Amino acid sequence: MKKKVLWSLLVAGLFGSSILSVSQAAGDPEAGKKKYYTCEGCHGVESSTNAYPTYHVPRLGGQHADYVVAALEAYQKGERKHSSMLGNAASMSEQDMQDIAAFVSKFKGLNVTLPVTGNAAAGKDKVAACGGCHGEDGNNDNPMFPRLAGQYESYIVKALQDYKSGKRSNPMMAGFAAMLSDEEMKDVAAYYASQKKGLIIPRDN
Ligand code: HEC
Ligand code: HEC
Repeated sequence: MKKKVLWSLLVAGLFGSSILSVSQAAGDPEAGKKKYYTCEGCHGVESSTNAYPTYHVPRLGGQHADYVVAALEAYQKGERKHSSMLGNAASMSEQDMQDIAAFVSKFKGLNVTLPVTGNAAAGKDKVAACGGCHGEDGNNDNPMFPRLAGQYESYIVKALQDYKSGKRSNPMMAGFAAMLSDEEMKDVAAYYASQKKGLIIPRDN
């Protein structure tokens, strides 16, 4: 518990100014549902993959709205590089981002069973360093930290590789990803992908 409090303080100091500044989510989920239509071909299809390199298109259902907006802004500004996501985010207004984020974030996590190739039990031993921010099970309710529970294993591995190589820049995550070997990344990803109340495909059903 004490450890958690310390982490929160450290993290509030490190990330407070950047991510909290977008936290005034004023999105309209109904408007967002319509705008999300163009995203469905990739984010609305179970096990849809990026063509090359091959990894799953991330699940957005139940993800924190603030994080979704921050991610879209990062693609739009070119801070996060991905050609089709740049294409999708390029012409979005701040309101579009907020609306879509309000729509995808409204879904409640479900217990999903995703196929994994890594060793989730081994991964559990490696995530002690991650829990202070992402939550022990990858489901921190603090919107500063993306939910990882139920995220596709291959996408988590890709994200960690990109932080490690510097393709995706985040000083804190670069440090944590650097500590992991390729195999450890797979194990950690298998652990998060297997957690309860995980992210889902945003779909009204
Ligand atoms: C052609 C397929 C495709 C389409 C269409 C698409 N995306 Fe994506 N999206 C991806 C892929 C692949 C990634 C992972 C990219 C990376 O590695 O950074 C991604 C990443 C994201 C992320 C970051 C998720 C995270 O966990 O960091 C968000 C948010 C997102 N997309 C939102 C959208 C929205 C909103 C739309 C529609 C306006 C959209 N995407 C349309 C393929 C697509
Ligand atoms: C000090 C806080 C902190 C710690 C500790 C931490 N993370 Fe993160 N993590 C973040 C933040 C903040 C982001 C969002 C950064 C961004 O926008 O790219 C993030 C992003 C991620 C992402 C990308 C999620 C997505 O949807 O794209 C993954 C995967 C991840 N972290 C895994 C881990 C793992 C595994 C560990 C432990 C080895 C860890 N993190 C430790 C703060 C942390």
